[in-house]
Amino acid sequence: MKRKDLLGLYDLSAEEIGEILSVGLNMKKLLRQNIKKLPHLMGKSVTTLFYENSTRTRCSFELAAKYMGAHVVSLSVATSSVQKGETLVDTGKTLDAMMNDVIVIRHPMGGAPRLLAKTVKAHVVNAGDGMNEHPTQALLDMLTMRERWGDIAGKTVAILGDIGHSRVAKSNLFGLTKLGATVRMYAPRTLMPTGLERMGAKICSSREEAVEGADAVMGLRIQLERQHAGNFPSLGEYAAYYGVDDGVLKYAKEGALVMHPGPVNRGVELTSSLIDGKESVIEDQVLSGIAVRMAVLFLLTKEEIA
Ligand code: CP
Repeated sequence: MKRKDLLGLYDLSAEEIGEILSVGLNMKKLLRQNIKKLPHLMGKSVTTLFYENSTRTRCSFELAAKYMGAHVVSLSVATSSVQKGETLVDTGKTLDAMMNDVIVIRHPMGGAPRLLAKTVKAHVVNAGDGMNEHPTQALLDMLTMRERWGDIAGKTVAILGDIGHSRVAKSNLFGLTKLGATVRMYAPRTLMPTGLERMGAKICSSREEAVEGADAVMGLRIQLERQHAGNFPSLGEYAAYYGVDDGVLKYAKEGALVMHPGPVNRGVELTSSLIDGKESVIEDQVLSGIAVRMAVLFLLTKEEIA
């Protein structure tokens, strides 16, 4: 991969995605052997800069960088000079001046990582920007699928939930369609943005239609922090009419993967029995998350090491 930054899957070719997944699969094999000391980022500095909460993405980027020998700084926005009014660009320039090599950024404003990438020398990795993209989440989802299926082309993935606010849904749509999969989507009308069909999604009018014959069923978190009143009546009604339970999953292919990016609202997007059931790969998605982030950090910085 020959690019300075990873800002979204909209920008990436199928070949670039394939390269990340191939390296990620190798990293995952090493992690399964409990190998957590690799030289790929030795001498490099990685800073995580999160303007929004995170458990999985932040921890896995930091562990990925540490497992490959990088110096890792976790810049806590709540206690940084951002609180004194320092801009994102000035924060980035300050990190550049400290000879930092990679900035991993999560920001509530779509486009913030792109703005940062234009103004800093460091590699910038988008760890989720507003309602725009979450590229490494989609990459880890695809890594989980590819490990099980071998090939993603020809498969059908049903994505159900809060599509409107979901950067995960958009990155998966871009990535999965580039690799030849069919992406079906289903959400309350109030949480389904227009224009997704033009981007390659098949918009469905019922849960059953979305899930029928699918190879994977992905629930999306209801983003309570981004809701405006009136998008749906209550969480109970959302679960009853838009959530996935055993009855809905029966429409999918035998052995279909049950997926969720996390954090999950148990009993809302998916029932607890599905989250903890034998088809669930939610915990494996978390392991894929470290592997794919190791691959991304390595591929972005490797030219300098060679
Ligand atoms: N899936 C995801 O982005 O989780 P976190 O918000 O915990 O990072």
